[in-house]
Parts: sequence; C-alpha cells; structure tokens
Amino acid sequence: MKITLKILRFNPETDQKPWWGEYQVEMEPDDRLLDAIHQVKWYQDGTLTVRRSCAHGICGSDAMVINGRNGLACKTIIKDVGNKVTLEPLRGFRVIKDLVVDMEPFMEKYRSVMPYLINDEDPGTRERLQSQEDRAIFDDSTKCILCGCCTASCPSFWANPNYLGPAALVQAHRFIFDSRDRATEERLAAVGGSDGAWRCRTIFNCVEACPREINITKAIGEIKKALLYNGG
Ligand code: SF4
Ligand code: F3S
Ligand code: FES
Repeated sequence: MKITLKILRFNPETDQKPWWGEYQVEMEPDDRLLDAIHQVKWYQDGTLTVRRSCAHGICGSDAMVINGRNGLACKTIIKDVGNKVTLEPLRGFRVIKDLVVDMEPFMEKYRSVMPYLINDEDPGTRERLQSQEDRAIFDDSTKCILCGCCTASCPSFWANPNYLGPAALVQAHRFIFDSRDRATEERLAAVGGSDGAWRCRTIFNCVEACPREINITKAIGEIKKALLYNGG
C-alpha cells in the first residue's frame, strides 16, 4: 500500500519556523511505522532526523506524536494508522531537529527522584529478599522505558514545565513502594513539593499515551496517599 507521511520538519539552524514535509512510501500493511520513516530517511531525504535504537519497544527513544497521539514509531503498525500519517515531535519539549527533542530536562527530573535502591544496611551473605506480594506492589512501575510519551501528553506539564511529570513520578513510585528501600522519606520529599505529585490533576492523558500500558494515574494516586500519611 502507498502511504503518505506528513512530517513536521524544523532545523533551528536554518529554518525560521517549522514546515511540513510530505513523502510517499510503498509499505506492507504489517510493516512498522519506523520502517516507513526509514524509507524516507534512507531513500528520499537523508536530512530527516529521528532518534531510534532498539526498534522493538524497549529503549523508548522513538516517541513522537503520531496522528495527534503520542506513541512509539517502532510499535505502531502501518495498517493501524491508515495511509495518511502525520508525525510531529513530542509536545512541551524543545525541538533539537525534526522529530528529535531535548530529553535532558526530562532526565534531570528523573534523576531528582533518586531512581535507584537506597539501603545502607548490611545484607549479610545473600541478596535482599522480598516476598512476591511485596514485589507485586510496584510491578507495574518497573515497566517504564522512559520514553516521555506520558509527560509530553500531560496538560499540567504543558502549563508548568517545572512539574516533575508522570514519568518521574512512576520512577519514584517504583522505589517508594519497594520494601527493600530505606529512603522513603527523602524520596517523598522529592516528589511532595509544589511541582511534584500534587500538580497531577488526574487528567489520565498519560495512561492513554503510555506504550507500556502502565496505570500511571493510579501510581501517582498512591504517591499522594503516601504523602498524606507522611505529612507531605
Ligand atoms: Fe513512557 Fe509509560 Fe514510562 Fe511514561 S510511564 S515514560 S509513557 S513507559
Ligand atoms: Fe497529567 Fe496524567 Fe496527572 S495526564 S495530570 S500526570 S493523570
Ligand atoms: Fe526503541 Fe522504539 S526504537 S522503543
């Protein structure tokens, strides 16, 4: 099938403003959208800039706005998006070039929630044990691949770019509710400020956007509850 890709192009070094590039490619219905983007980049216009790595929905690097909704190009099948596809960079992030946005402020927020296990107690001669029930409490949050689809779909983030955003909160959830971790108070302090979890207005865009189907709003709700119980 012939499909038309309409891609929002922008090179801040040469363009005054973004412009739409239109490209026709011949694809199979079961091909992935990333394959179509490659057809454009490899055979029609090598200046098209896109970030991708694994091509299998694991690295989170090819998040973009696909027909108005956030998603991963490598997890999107051509027959599901039709023969006219518009592609734009993630909203609310600075565009570096074409479909590539600056992820550094996003990563800064990720780092601010201390996304690693903190426990200075001597574990003895074996690993730190955890029951299956305790592991299940944060299982959903472990699926995050830091693609940014959630944060870039959140109106609270668009209104206030200082808001930590759903992705960083999911990462905080992953450790706050880990029974082996000992830094709950510090981590709750990191997510409890005026730009933290309370900025979430339960809009649910993030849940719809997440390619890993994480129940992000539920995770943020659990953080809010923990903040209340801890006086945050
Ligand atoms: Fe991506 Fe989902 Fe993680 Fe958000 S929570 S960064 S949408 S994987
Ligand atoms: Fe934003 Fe998701 Fe909350 S869209 S407001 S983080 S529920
Ligand atoms: Fe890695 Fe799509 S290229 S998630």
